[in-house]
Amino acid sequence: MGCLGWKYQLFCLLVLLSFLFHLQSSFSSSLSSISPCSALLHFNSSLSLHRTASLSFYTSRIQMCDNSYPKTASWKEDKDCCGWDGVVCDQTTRHVIGLDLSCSWLSGSIHSNSTLFSLPHLRTLNLAGNDFNYSLISSEFGNFKSLTHLNLSNSMFFGKIPYEISHLSSLVSLDLSYNSVLLIETPVWKNLTQLRELLLDWSNMSSIRPNSLMNLSSSFTTLSLHDCNLQGKLQNNFLCLPNIQTLDLGGNWNLDLGSLPKCNGSSIFLKFLDLFETRFSGELLDSIGNMKSLKHLNLYNCNLTGSIPTSLGNLTKLTTLDLSYNSFRGLLPLSLFNLPNLSGLYLHNNQLVGPLPNHVSGLLNIKDLYLSSNFLNGTLPSWMFNLPSLESLILDGNQFIGEIGEFKSNSLGYLDLGYNKLQGSIPRSISKLVNLTYLSLPSNNLSIMLELEMFSKLKNLELLDFSNNNLVSINNNVTYTLPKLSSLSLSSCNISEFPIFLRIATTLQFLDLSKNRIYGQVPKWLGDVGRDSLYFLDLHDNLLQGLFPTLRFLSLEYLFVSNNELSGEIPSLICNASSLYVLDLSHNNLSGVVPKCLVHSNVLSVLDLRMNSLHGTIPKTFSKGNNFRDINLNGNQLEGPLPQALANCRNLEVLDLGSNKINGTFPYLLEGLLNLKVLIIRSNKFQGHIGSPKTKFPFPNLRILDISNNEFNGPLPIKYFKYLKAMTNVDEGKVALNYMGKGYYQDSLNVMMKGSYIELVRIQTVFTIIDFSNNSFRGEMPKIIGSLKSLKGLNFSHNNLTGYIPSSFGNLSNLEWLDLSFNKLIGEIPRQLANLLWLEVLNLSHNQLTGPIPSGKQFNTFDNDSYIENLGLCGFPLSRMCDSHEAKKQQPLTLQQKDKLELENGFSWQAISMGYGCGVIFGMLMGYLMFKIGKPKWIVRMVKVE
Ligand SMILES: *[C@@H]1O[C@H](CO)[C@@H](O)[C@H](O)[C@H]1NC(C)=O
Ligand SMILES: *[C@@H]1O[C@H](CO)[C@@H](O)[C@H](O)[C@H]1NC(C)=O
Ligand SMILES: *[C@@H]1O[C@H](CO)[C@@H](O)[C@H](O)[C@H]1NC(C)=O
Ligand SMILES: *[C@@H]1O[C@H](CO)[C@@H](O)[C@H](O)[C@H]1NC(C)=O
Ligand SMILES: *[C@@H]1O[C@H](CO)[C@@H](O)[C@H](O)[C@H]1NC(C)=O
Repeated sequence: MGCLGWKYQLFCLLVLLSFLFHLQSSFSSSLSSISPCSALLHFNSSLSLHRTASLSFYTSRIQMCDNSYPKTASWKEDKDCCGWDGVVCDQTTRHVIGLDLSCSWLSGSIHSNSTLFSLPHLRTLNLAGNDFNYSLISSEFGNFKSLTHLNLSNSMFFGKIPYEISHLSSLVSLDLSYNSVLLIETPVWKNLTQLRELLLDWSNMSSIRPNSLMNLSSSFTTLSLHDCNLQGKLQNNFLCLPNIQTLDLGGNWNLDLGSLPKCNGSSIFLKFLDLFETRFSGELLDSIGNMKSLKHLNLYNCNLTGSIPTSLGNLTKLTTLDLSYNSFRGLLPLSLFNLPNLSGLYLHNNQLVGPLPNHVSGLLNIKDLYLSSNFLNGTLPSWMFNLPSLESLILDGNQFIGEIGEFKSNSLGYLDLGYNKLQGSIPRSISKLVNLTYLSLPSNNLSIMLELEMFSKLKNLELLDFSNNNLVSINNNVTYTLPKLSSLSLSSCNISEFPIFLRIATTLQFLDLSKNRIYGQVPKWLGDVGRDSLYFLDLHDNLLQGLFPTLRFLSLEYLFVSNNELSGEIPSLICNASSLYVLDLSHNNLSGVVPKCLVHSNVLSVLDLRMNSLHGTIPKTFSKGNNFRDINLNGNQLEGPLPQALANCRNLEVLDLGSNKINGTFPYLLEGLLNLKVLIIRSNKFQGHIGSPKTKFPFPNLRILDISNNEFNGPLPIKYFKYLKAMTNVDEGKVALNYMGKGYYQDSLNVMMKGSYIELVRIQTVFTIIDFSNNSFRGEMPKIIGSLKSLKGLNFSHNNLTGYIPSSFGNLSNLEWLDLSFNKLIGEIPRQLANLLWLEVLNLSHNQLTGPIPSGKQFNTFDNDSYIENLGLCGFPLSRMCDSHEAKKQQPLTLQQKDKLELENGFSWQAISMGYGCGVIFGMLMGYLMFKIGKPKWIVRMVKVE
């Protein structure tokens, strides 16, 4: 039975195979025998027509399907197909030799059995601008032996390009651009010796070696490989192809084009050159001025340096010139302003200097003028306000002075003059700019009278930014709306009341009124501003009083009301703010408890309630998978122990609970938080011994640990010191320039630094402090502390520590302040402390130290106060001289030791002596400067010490 079954199966298989073979051959014979006209009809009937298949499509180079219509809709069976729309026949043979169905609303798949492939005489085939629904490009395309032009661009083809394309040996033009990621794995163009145009934009060519594009025929006219993920080095000789007209390699940001070549007499036909976001090294050569046909030049973000060649001013056909985001230096070339046909000039984000020209002869067609983020200066010349076609004028981040002129044309949509030094008022002609969408003038010296009638006709206005100017007056009589206004910034404008016109801003999303003098109660109507759209509200640094404003919190993500005088409780309405991401209510007089819902949030990242009068316990409702990054409850009256659920805050980086009445033992529960960098529990009622860590690697990222002013006792926790990884090895080179905090919120802290409380407005990630002062720790200071090499501040003062100062402290090479005062330390000051070249503040007073004070270097800068009330210290700066026995030990380091130090620390003695005497001088604003090149700087703001 089994045997019979097997034979039977084989028989069936053979029958099936022969049947299939038969089917296949009859099918292909039917394909070739079908008449061209029925083939076309069949092809058309296999697809459907949808207008959306041919929507208009623009890139910087092409405009496609502007006036699309269904060409095949007029095809009639009873007519000769040679007369159909889009069909071209040979006059004599009547063969169909051309088919142009571009932008014809065609929608559906093209399979390899399509009758399209039974038109063997086709020479040109254009199916661009349709929707072939992710069809693969069939290998049948390789059978059009006579094809010279194949255009399948922007028509939703997909997948690998078939190898058979390389059989189209007559092909002159191949355009497969703008499909949905075609994969190109073979350089099919290598065999196509007639090829003049190759367009593969948006395909994935990451596995193609750029060098396979070398040695293109000298008759090449078009090479367009925009955003193809080309990688590697390409010796770019394209510019030297004598007939090249279009060269587009933009967006291949892994493509290294070396330096721009110099090609004598060539590229004179080049019209379109787009190499944006490719990588170049070096300068743009003067010879670019020889490319007389150039209309479009885009070298955005290419890492070019040097000056912008004035010869560009010779390229009178230019319509687009984009050199933005490079490192061009030197004078702004004025020749560019005389180009007659320019429609877009983009020179922003370079390092250009100098004034704008007083007169221009070109720019009559300019729409976009972008010169922002340079160092341009002088006044804004009058021609700038006369340009008849101007739509965007973007000049922010320069050093322009003088007044803003009156606009003569009303074409302007975007105006950004922020971050300059402009004076005067807003020109009255603004009121006529009916297309104005974006008006941004922050950080100037403008005196602005906010008369809103001025804006009454600007129905398209979406953004107004007058921050950091002087708002002279606000006229509050308004009877109209700004239907599209979504962003309003009036920060630091010296205003003293809420602008009533906000009432008309019902679509507002972003409102910044911070740093003003707005006083009193928050008006009720503010709750309706931007009803369900407001996501950002900043009222910080004002004089707001009374109860917390009744806002609609529904859409709020960022709420800043810090540094006001609000009182009362945090309203439970805030629980409606389910998208709240940053909440900063610090420095008010808020009372009541911390609402449970805030702590329960899975979205909230920053909760800053410091310096209020909140009481009660910290809610226990921290949920698993929460998003907290910074929790700051410093300076309230919170009590009770820490909730165990704090351990759920796996993303927590900063926890500041200082100056409350919290009790309990050392917060072991936090030691497993891998991201915790700052832990401050100073001035609370924590108590008891600090035992051994409960986890293997406690606090792996901790940089600031402040447990001062509590009731801890027992020995110093040697095991923790052993594992504070982040304090042992900080690679300053890598993290030096980072500050903690993200987006709109910058972490800030109060820390005891060099003897004073300082508010760190920004926390540098390398900032490293241990403060155990004012507790009852006893016993000796463990040697292991000397391995916490990145420590900048160490404070063990006001404890009961005994024994010697470990000489290993001399290894704390970054230490800037050391306070061991008010303990019972004995013995001598280790001479190794003289190695601490950054030490600015030393306090060893009130101990039982004896012997000579080390001499030399930083020790020459400390005064008596560092040493008072000890048993027997001698030598400078004390008046007690050391006797001969003591003096021997006081020798400064030998010369060799000096040299060694220099080598280790990489800077010279001169720099160190500059450091002398720059001790502790704090102003309201202090630049915290380091003398070693590359050392970090940070800004600290002095605050009152309670
Ligand atoms: C053509 O091939 C596709 C997919 O292989 C198939 O679904 C379709 O039925 C075929 N059409 C004809 C007419 O054979
Ligand atoms: C180029 O053509 C030759 C000969 O026709 C063929 O052997 C080769 O595979 C083709 N190469 C490519 C990349 O198409
Ligand atoms: C930019 O160019 C400079 C040399 O001019 C080179 O050192 C640097 O690596 C380049 N940057 C990139 C991102 O290619
Ligand atoms: C090109 O511009 C430069 C500098 O602006 C000028 O000296 C030169 O004569 C111009 N060349 C031509 C051919 O116009
Ligand atoms: C503008 O900048 C240039 C170059 O930095 C400088 O030489 C010139 O004095 C400046 N002019 C004004 C008016 O500030």
